[in-house]
Amino acid sequence: MIAVPIVASTVREALKDMRIAFRVADLVELRLDFIKDIHRDNLSMLLSRKTEKIIVTDRKNRADIIEKALELKAGFVDLDISMGGGKIKKLIQGKDKTKVIVSFHNFKKTNRKEVLKKYSKIKKLNPDVFKIATYANSISDNIVVFDMVKKARKDNMKVISICMGEKGEISRILSPLFGGFLTYASIEGKNSAPGQIDVKLLKRIYRIDRLNKPKIFGLVGNPVVHSKGICLHNDLFKKLRLNKIYVNFLVDDLKGFVREYGPIISGLSITIPFKRDIIKYLDGLDRSARRIGAVNTIVKRNGNLIGYNTDMVGAIRAIESKTQIKGKKVLMIGAGGVARAIGYGIIQKNGELIILNRTVRKAKKLARDLGCTYGGLSRLSKLSDVDIVVNATSIGMSPNDDQTPVPRNVLKKIITGKTVVFDSVYNPKRTRLLKDARGLGCRVVSGYDMFINQAKEQFKLFTGRNIK
Ligand SMILES: NC(=O)c1ccc[n+]([C@@H]2O[C@H](COP(=O)([O-])OP(=O)(O)OC[C@H]3O[C@@H](n4cnc5c(N)ncnc54)[C@H](OP(=O)(O)O)[C@@H]3O)[C@@H](O)[C@H]2O)c1
Repeated sequence: MIAVPIVASTVREALKDMRIAFRVADLVELRLDFIKDIHRDNLSMLLSRKTEKIIVTDRKNRADIIEKALELKAGFVDLDISMGGGKIKKLIQGKDKTKVIVSFHNFKKTNRKEVLKKYSKIKKLNPDVFKIATYANSISDNIVVFDMVKKARKDNMKVISICMGEKGEISRILSPLFGGFLTYASIEGKNSAPGQIDVKLLKRIYRIDRLNKPKIFGLVGNPVVHSKGICLHNDLFKKLRLNKIYVNFLVDDLKGFVREYGPIISGLSITIPFKRDIIKYLDGLDRSARRIGAVNTIVKRNGNLIGYNTDMVGAIRAIESKTQIKGKKVLMIGAGGVARAIGYGIIQKNGELIILNRTVRKAKKLARDLGCTYGGLSRLSKLSDVDIVVNATSIGMSPNDDQTPVPRNVLKKIITGKTVVFDSVYNPKRTRLLKDARGLGCRVVSGYDMFINQAKEQFKLFTGRNIK
């Protein structure tokens, strides 16, 4: 179930927001502590319609208003354990029309011991629902709240168990799918707690109201906010009616992530900065991932995490949609993870590859591995008659849209009348490099094409299904 918190500052505004929220939410949570003109006597205005679908919460712990909500038979009241067990017991005695949520919050951190202690304390009060909301400082903290869902469910207790903050976002998506009673979502950007996700995103993209214990896939990276993968993969899961979900994992400690999330996930996309580091935590690699030395896809097979690389196929297909690589003089700028994959593909296709990179040492290493020539960026202006230019750096990526790895005057000197320019950067779709190249009469290939191609390959690995 999805509950939308109402964080209006007046009763009038709250009534308006409730009308909007009820169109999309199963429940609304009335945050009385936000409403300046609320008092015992006008609470009935807010509880006159769909009363059974309203959670009344007052973080100011005002007993008189809670009593009134109970009298008006609100669907739920949420009482913070900080009120004290004795006071809570007294308030709810005999009020069996209203379901009681007893909650624990920590706005600074998530601590397993503390959460377990509060759980024992709250359980003694025998509430209808146990709720924990704690701040996530790392992705590991979400595991604590997921474990609480399991524990409470074992004890036959309904449970709301979520982490707050950016690093807790995944708990708001996954916790209800693991058996949590509900999750909170915002409308029109009105949040009652950090990390709350828009209700439309939860329903349309993640379909949390449709899935039932889905297989979990996701993107591991840092940062992950610019990723288009959540739309692409979830859309495809939806189209094919698959009980699968794709979420973003914002990771700091890769080793810890694999240990804790390895048992939960079915497949992963891997992005900056983990494409090489991830290898040491995997159980196996497919041949091209091993040759490339970078992994952008993981699939769990018989309990083992196996690494693949779909960047190579994605990029090579995108370039070859405009020109054959065989026998062509290819300049690639960059020597990171993506360059490794693209470079390997170019060599396989018998392209004549030159790698230039800001850090010459890295260009040298990659060139040695691939068997090609290399140099520093100062060599750019010394080249001529380049058939294919590849940007495999992050230069030009949003928000630095005005930057280019090859200044226009240099590009003009090194191209032929038939040069194809490919930029692996896909955000924005038309980078400064591609605009300059098109202006100079080159054919251009966007990193977006590579992204779509590699995602399709990834999707095939995740699901065994081909996408046209
Ligand atoms: N289209 C797709 O599907 C797709 C998929 C993944 C990635 N990408 C794109 O590929 C880019 C690179 O990803 P990656 O995984 O290879 O990253 P990476 O391993 O961190 O490598 C980054 C590369 O960019 C160079 N670089 C970064 N900033 C620079 C600057 N200011 N001046 C000169 N060189 C600079 C680095 O040079 P040094 O070695 O000197 O640091 C290195 O060669 C990403 O930014 C993304 O836009 C596209």
